[in-house]
Amino acid sequence: MEQKIYLNQSDIPRQWYNLAADLPNPVPMPLGPDGKPVSPDALASVFPMNLIEQEMSTERWIDIPEGILDILYRWRPAPLRRAVNLEKHLETPAKIYYKDESVSPPGSHKPNTSVAQAWYNKQFGINKLTTETGAGQWGCALAFACKMLDMECKVYMVRISFDQKPFRKIMMKVWGADCFPSPSENTTVGKKLLEEQPDTPGSLGMAISEAIETAVGDKTGKTRYSLGSVLNHVMLHQTIIGLEAKKQLASVGIKKPDIVIGCAGGGSNFAGLAFPFMADIINGEQIEIYPTEPTACPTLTRGPYAYDFGDVAGTTPLLAMHTLGHAFVPPPIHAGGLRYHGMAPMVSQAIKDGLAKPKSLHQLECYRAALTWAQTEGFICAPETSHAIACAINEAKKAKEEGKEKVILFNYSGHGLMDLTGYDAYLSGKLTDYELPQEDLDKFTSVLNDLPKP
Ligand SMILES: Cc1ncc(COP(=O)(O)O)c(C=O)c1O
Repeated sequence: MEQKIYLNQSDIPRQWYNLAADLPNPVPMPLGPDGKPVSPDALASVFPMNLIEQEMSTERWIDIPEGILDILYRWRPAPLRRAVNLEKHLETPAKIYYKDESVSPPGSHKPNTSVAQAWYNKQFGINKLTTETGAGQWGCALAFACKMLDMECKVYMVRISFDQKPFRKIMMKVWGADCFPSPSENTTVGKKLLEEQPDTPGSLGMAISEAIETAVGDKTGKTRYSLGSVLNHVMLHQTIIGLEAKKQLASVGIKKPDIVIGCAGGGSNFAGLAFPFMADIINGEQIEIYPTEPTACPTLTRGPYAYDFGDVAGTTPLLAMHTLGHAFVPPPIHAGGLRYHGMAPMVSQAIKDGLAKPKSLHQLECYRAALTWAQTEGFICAPETSHAIACAINEAKKAKEEGKEKVILFNYSGHGLMDLTGYDAYLSGKLTDYELPQEDLDKFTSVLNDLPKP
């Protein structure tokens, strides 16, 4: 029984797949401050024009430049693995496959887009990138990409993670980046937030505001901002995951999976695995696709579909998406990368179009699943990834009850070797389940009433 399915380097996908070409209904345009669709020029101080063009593209296939592949070859094609030991433990007839994105140098799927974004920025003459990071995965991914391309990198890290995850700060420094806790004293918006909420744990929305202010404020014009999720071009760059997985499944005689699962923070690792399979659904295949999120930050399962800002200060264009409201301050659950208030507009639209069904999971169930995983398969997963594993376990148990030999595929978005404080808290009984109270949801989403409706 083949447990590791590799592709040759020469079999790497040479084009990304753009779901925008095939979505039954188009994603509503982002809106500017005047309530009208934003023009590419309005985004030019934040992103380079080559990425803005990609953001707006509806071409089905987009070539991956050789310069990007040359860097991705360090770890791609990534292995597809079969979790035979977990299958045995669960006594399930299901076959559980997972795409191992933990093998990248920073340890997650994020470099698939950080490398591409840094490369396009460099082509455009930019020499410095700013960004935010939650758990630190994205900050590490961008720091790594900038170093590979000889660019500078400045990262605003959500304060609670900055304190909880000291090792990722060090990784960013090893790759030559500067990393600050957010909110910080570096920016006008950071100072204002600290004045109003001195003890705030921070949020991705706050850190995004700081990173954008820093990029736009560079008078030399050589700095741009980079986002690790949510945007169309990020989803696009991640589709290399699903495209590789399809080739790998085909190589062991599997025409299609029955179930595809990915955890969803801003939506990128989920989209990366799932979008190429959504194309098959659109073409008539039967595949169940599940994005999974924490009950503490239930963007897809409870957040309304609305126009909202991507950041707390309202600096970004309005995006049509599932959202908990841009001022949402998430509880400090350990899956830092799943605490964002919004969700990729393309993922939100795909859900509206019935191509995927979101599920929410409690923190303790996810850590239980992470421990089962570590004690059967051996690997220690990222807390974010545990939300995909918990769902895969539930589906494998269901397959057992139904006596069906289903093929389950999930995205192993990252390893958890830098996230051991979360495991420690779980093992010493300090973690509890948390479900966002309805009053809080109503309070945070009330800001949406004054915004245009998609
Ligand atoms: C390992 C890992 N998985 C998942 C996520 C969630 O992000 P996204 O939904 O964009 O994949 C993150 C975010 O930091 C992450 O670090």
